[in-house]
Amino acid sequence: MKVLMPLSPPKETAARAVMHNALVGILGSKGGAGATTLAVNLSATLARLLPDENPVSLLDANFQQPDAALQLDCRPEHSLTELLIRAHTLEPQIVDACKNVVDSCQNLRLITAALDGSAATRHDKGELLTCLPAITSSSSVTVLDLPRTLDKSLVMLLDLCQVIVLVVEPNISSIAATRRWLEAFNDLEYPAGKIILAANRLGSKARLLETQLSSSFSLYPVVRIPNAFKSIEASQIEGIPSVCRNPRDPYAKSVLALSQETLLRLKVEAAEAGYQSHTARTTGEAR
Ligand SMILES: Nc1ncnc2c1ncn2[C@@H]1O[C@H](COP(=O)(O)OP(=O)(O)OP(=O)(O)O)[C@@H](O)[C@H]1O
Ligand SMILES: [Mg+2]
Repeated sequence: MKVLMPLSPPKETAARAVMHNALVGILGSKGGAGATTLAVNLSATLARLLPDENPVSLLDANFQQPDAALQLDCRPEHSLTELLIRAHTLEPQIVDACKNVVDSCQNLRLITAALDGSAATRHDKGELLTCLPAITSSSSVTVLDLPRTLDKSLVMLLDLCQVIVLVVEPNISSIAATRRWLEAFNDLEYPAGKIILAANRLGSKARLLETQLSSSFSLYPVVRIPNAFKSIEASQIEGIPSVCRNPRDPYAKSVLALSQETLLRLKVEAAEAGYQSHTARTTGEAR
């Protein structure tokens, strides 16, 4: 089957923007907001943009209902469970074995919670924290499809993300939930530059809500993602990311814009982290 890919800028341009071992969290403001679909398509687009020596991983951390493998038609040989039970003695080979090949996307690997949902009763997302350094260390970018329950473990995972993509839909409850998430991020003192809003499923009849959505969150960049029911449904049935199946459609173009914004944020974050460690070093030397 021929898999088309999105129109994209030259790989070298994107590569210059890459922060090694970067972690990008995708969080749905509400259930069903489109977080997993976006995580799949964002990671597929990043895998396309970055050169082969900068691999991208998608980590589906939804222990109860891991969906990413279905969307990628991936039947994982090993799951996140293998990593969680060996969390304190993780060898790179074991992490590699749990990174499943995605046929439709050469530079992308998938790590997923067990598809039978068994991890939900045996493991807690807090356990992920121990494994994350080993998981992220062998990828240039890891896209983390986050569970949505706000608790201490989620905060610790969010702390580790350089960028958080918060998925909002143009409906009253999603807009209200987004306000609550942003208040929580504010309490956690996350800089505005760490957060990107992805306004999903736009173009419906709810124009008033779309206007409200854009005007409510003016502090944050909002990437507009159109409603693409038909192409997403067909992609999910075939198990190919929509951005690979329909690379020229408005959905793929909007995910490309989100990917470029994400890479830009990672580049800025890397530059700031580099500046801070340089300042700390030079102040230390001066003492
Ligand atoms: N831009 C879009 N246009 C049309 N349909 C979409 C769009 N984004 C997602 N969907 C559809 O919405 C449904 C929910 O998407 P998805 O499973 O990605 O949401 P989620 O936020 O991960 O849900 P959950 O809370 O269960 O984890 C799916 O059927 C998906 O195909
Ligand atoms: Mg999901």
